[in-house]
Amino acid sequence: MNKQQFQQDLIGWFQKEQRDLPWRRTADPYQIWISEVMLQQTRVDTVIPYYKRFVEKFPTVETLAAAEEETLLKLWEGLGYYSRARNLQAGVREVAENYGGIVPNTRKEISSLKGVGPYTAGAVLSIAYGVPEHAVDGNVMRVLSRILLIEEDIAKPKTRKTFEHAVTELISHEDPSSFNQGLMELGALICTPTSPKCLLCPVREHCAAFDAGKETELPVKTKV
Ligand code: ADE
Repeated sequence: MNKQQFQQDLIGWFQKEQRDLPWRRTADPYQIWISEVMLQQTRVDTVIPYYKRFVEKFPTVETLAAAEEETLLKLWEGLGYYSRARNLQAGVREVAENYGGIVPNTRKEISSLKGVGPYTAGAVLSIAYGVPEHAVDGNVMRVLSRILLIEEDIAKPKTRKTFEHAVTELISHEDPSSFNQGLMELGALICTPTSPKCLLCPVREHCAAFDAGKETELPVKTKV
């Protein structure tokens, strides 16, 4: 793997082919945080209208911190996993009270906030602040299992660490945001769970699974 060429191919493709999504039109760490929480268990197409309504009603840390729970849950209705909304508000209140309303920009601080796990922390740090931090979810594990031919079982909780280490090694320090979002976008548009579109893939020449003809055998995922 030529790391620099890989970064350039991934980032170049992302900048040209990325979908125009509402949370890609803001640089506000708070609004990007909202989007990443919504996107964790819900599909992009479903999230779009919810995200728009939410940031219109609660455009800032202060407005969400002051919101009535009833108003908040009403806006979340249909997205499911309501604990996500309650935890988000609790985390946002911590930012209002302990960080002067500014979302912190270190993994240690942001991870201390209610509801912010390793993925959300890395997504906000890299996308909003340009910090070269890993943001590994199921889609990113699928993409990287193929590119790096990693045969560890992604159903095992321990396995995420392997991928976090791999991203930490590979991530662009020039543009961590486009790098991480490029991996997500590749997983959504090209490196799909079934029938990946390898012939359209911008990083096919860096992909160990494609080289070995194993792209449809990866990721390894045991059933529950
Ligand atoms: N899934 C998780 N985060 C995403 C993002 N920022 N854009 C598109 N899909 C995503």
